[in-house]
Amino acid sequence: MNKAIEVALFLHLLAVAVWIGGMVFAHFCLRPALADLSPQLRLPLWESVFARFFNWVAASVLVILLTGGFLLTQFGGGHAAWQLHAMAGLGVLMMLIFGHIRFAVFPRIRRAVQAQNWPDGARAVGTVRRLVVINLVLGVVTIGFAVLSRGF
Ligand code: HEM
Repeated sequence: MNKAIEVALFLHLLAVAVWIGGMVFAHFCLRPALADLSPQLRLPLWESVFARFFNWVAASVLVILLTGGFLLTQFGGGHAAWQLHAMAGLGVLMMLIFGHIRFAVFPRIRRAVQAQNWPDGARAVGTVRRLVVINLVLGVVTIGFAVLSRGF
């Protein structure tokens, strides 16, 4: 493997770890721990957690796209193994879902917190939760395709 491929794979996996690991932490650790707080405390907390985490995800998406695109050209481009195309397809789907969370649902949380409209805020946080579960499942399946592409 040449150096450029090694570096790209390293960055690709680092970005995947940040994105998937962050979703696991938010969904399985932070969410249940905050569940008993009142909406007045819980929703502003989610807003500030998301504001930070989504910047990390945006950076990860950028790195995954750049390194994934580069790796795909190195692994045969259009003739690469079908599992790599599956990875790219699912990866782009995950990015679209993230884009919807960041640019459609998150602003609703912000507005609700500013207006102290707790029912609307709770609904929007619930939507983020469902979309994060979908992205987590897609992420795990994508990692499965990555491993399968090795052709064991
Ligand atoms: C635009 C989207 C993506 C493209 C074009 C892409 C492309 C690639 C390519 C070409 C490789 C190298 C395969 C190899 O080393 O044999 C790779 C590795 C990998 N990718 Fe992606 N990828 C994308 C998104 C993702 C996402 C979203 C995930 C996880 C959720 C992911 C997980 C992995 C993993 C775990 C590997 C290491 C596989 C290995 O070395 O065995 N990729 N990716």
